[in-house]
Amino acid sequence: AHLWQGIIREYADLLPEHLTTHIVTLGEGGTPLVPAPALSALTGAEVFLKVEGMNPTGSFKDRGMTTAISAAKHKGAKVVVCASTGNTSASAAAYAVAAGMRCAVLVPDGKIAMGKLSQAIAHGATLLQVDGNFDDCLVAARKLAEAYPVELVNSVNPDRIQGQKTASFEIVDVLGDAPDIHALPVGNAGNITAYWKGYTEYAAAGISTRLPQMWGFQAAGSAPIVAGHPITEPETIATAIRIGNPASWEQAIEARDTSGGVIEAVTDEEILAAHRILSAEAGVFVEPASAAGVAGILSRARRGLVPAGARIVVTVTGHGLKDPQWALRTLDGSDVVPQRVTADIMSIAAALELV
Ligand code: F0G
Repeated sequence: AHLWQGIIREYADLLPEHLTTHIVTLGEGGTPLVPAPALSALTGAEVFLKVEGMNPTGSFKDRGMTTAISAAKHKGAKVVVCASTGNTSASAAAYAVAAGMRCAVLVPDGKIAMGKLSQAIAHGATLLQVDGNFDDCLVAARKLAEAYPVELVNSVNPDRIQGQKTASFEIVDVLGDAPDIHALPVGNAGNITAYWKGYTEYAAAGISTRLPQMWGFQAAGSAPIVAGHPITEPETIATAIRIGNPASWEQAIEARDTSGGVIEAVTDEEILAAHRILSAEAGVFVEPASAAGVAGILSRARRGLVPAGARIVVTVTGHGLKDPQWALRTLDGSDVVPQRVTADIMSIAAALELV
């Protein structure tokens, strides 16, 4: 049996050497590529989910964090900093522990999910809640890293993209070639940049024979790339992608246009509906932002824009336990209250309508 070694050791020959000298890993990557017959039926395509919630801290950020922190270690860094809507901070905090470094995180006040906040604190990060949104946090983190001896581990750091590109490698390794379409949520636009880089490199190396169309989906209240201008007050219940001025904007456009893909907006209602379908019909529990890619393919299917039989991989980016409250609310906004029974088999059987 092969014991998975983390993405740096698994793909060392496809990564820059400075990432391989001081490897800091928690065993990230090697995540499941799950066939989703329910989504195939709804779209007329062949849909697979790349379940990134199965990474050590529960999101895809771990792929980029093993590389960013390993590079920081290579340089002898003692302190790392990031701006975050939550997942990056959880990941940076965990990998900083593994590396023996200090971690500082800047998060938008009151706008990150409880699970992610708990992770950063549990891992001993210094967490500062900033009176501003993610974009303000990122500006501050970049300035801090310029002025002081701290490493910036946001996806503007190219070492992050190097790690995250390995998700594409894994998909091709499992499917035998690239899919027709790759769909995913877009926030700061690092991940769409990374996937495109991965697919392009595998094709250039002759490991795959084709490139997928890249389909990115932003939340409608936070869709600067779709609007064509920054959004100064981004809003969405999908707090992970509540971003108005993505750092990798140009790279996302490049991935979209070179691949013949699209970047579109999905509403919060569409995101929550997709979240529900993922949980109740595919068996995969994700956080709301992670459902944006699925919301996107369902929206395009309704408009007749999903080619019949196309092979589609959708990345679901983070685990449902990060932000579980959404499961306990119905689509019309009322709370779900579990039914109470007494501890006897008759009332339980009656509640289950077995009698
Ligand atoms: N999905 C989840 C669950 C995320 O946490 C993020 C980004 C994205 C999608 C979008 O990815 O930014 O590469 O386009 N979260 C960042 C963070 C911003 O701070 O955790 P992207």
